[in-house]
Amino acid sequence: MIILGIETSCDETSAAIVRDGTEVLCNIIASTKEVFAQSGGVVPEDAARRQVELILPVLHSAIAEAGLAYTDIDAIAVTKGPGLMGSLLVGVMAARTLSFIHNIPLIGVHHTLGHLSSVWLEQEDSPEFPCLTLSVSGGHSDLWLRTSHTDGKRIGKTRDDAAGEAFDKGAAMLGLPYPGGPSISKSANSGDPSAFDFPIALLKEPTCDFSFSGLKNSLRLAVLKHAGDLEKLQSNLAASYQEAICAQLCHRVAHALTLYPDVKEVHVVGGVSANTRLREMLQSTIAARALRTPKTIPYCTDNAAMIAAAGYFLYKDNPKQSLDAFITSTSTSL
Ligand code: KG4
Ligand code: ZN
Repeated sequence: MIILGIETSCDETSAAIVRDGTEVLCNIIASTKEVFAQSGGVVPEDAARRQVELILPVLHSAIAEAGLAYTDIDAIAVTKGPGLMGSLLVGVMAARTLSFIHNIPLIGVHHTLGHLSSVWLEQEDSPEFPCLTLSVSGGHSDLWLRTSHTDGKRIGKTRDDAAGEAFDKGAAMLGLPYPGGPSISKSANSGDPSAFDFPIALLKEPTCDFSFSGLKNSLRLAVLKHAGDLEKLQSNLAASYQEAICAQLCHRVAHALTLYPDVKEVHVVGGVSANTRLREMLQSTIAARALRTPKTIPYCTDNAAMIAAAGYFLYKDNPKQSLDAFITSTSTSL
């Protein structure tokens, strides 16, 4: 089954064509992140305007790169939310229009289910369930216990900011460019992670939830205290801050594994899963269990291949439901 995926939830415009939920025929991503580097974050109206400019060229490139025609596409999967309303509308309208013109069924995909499905792309082996998924991006930080490709329950969530947001806001405080994850990670490479003792929230609570607002405030206070020396201390602050974010994420994964000892494998997905230090720390946290990550970095951040994969498994796991019924669902569940 060949699925055209479309993802426009924020500042990436992406179209991908994926066979049977795993084989990526193309994954075109036009990012406008550099446009927002100066403003320190995404300006929703500008992001929507960029989506309008980019959606048709990106769709044309996807069809051309895969060497297919719209008549070869079995279904279109599109991100239905959550995300920036103006940006989402561009992708959904493009998908609906293509579906109408070419008479192709449409599948609406929850953005988070897209991230959860990014680990199925181009993997050699099949997953073993149940699995535990740490899903960490700019918009959410969740822990999922999953029993199939599309089923599972959320066992932890952030009580305030998302982990990616903590990276982005922290970078802004340190004078590093947006997006903050990659820039903090780069600066941290030359810093000492034990130079500053930043707090790890909810350490004493038996919870799988996260919280990053206190940590962000600690960085703000450290930046104020060392305002005169900021340039010199930047990499130490970045390394210590990154360490505190990753330590909290790993602590909750370790706690979840004590609650669900039959978990077969652990996954990490979403933009923050691109972080090398997080991957290292997670692997030592879960010891002998397998850590499954998206195959390449573009599958960590927003991309349409993961949406196409999610669309495929939604259809496969619910074969009795007609494809068209998916898009009419207004449910915000996965
Ligand atoms: O999944 P994503 O592309 O978009 C959302 O759904 O939010 O994630 C973007 C987030 C940003 O906050 C960005 O700073 C973070 O992922 N990110 C990283 C890294 N690369 C991207 N965070 C930590 N380390 C990275 N290498
Ligand atoms: Zn995302």
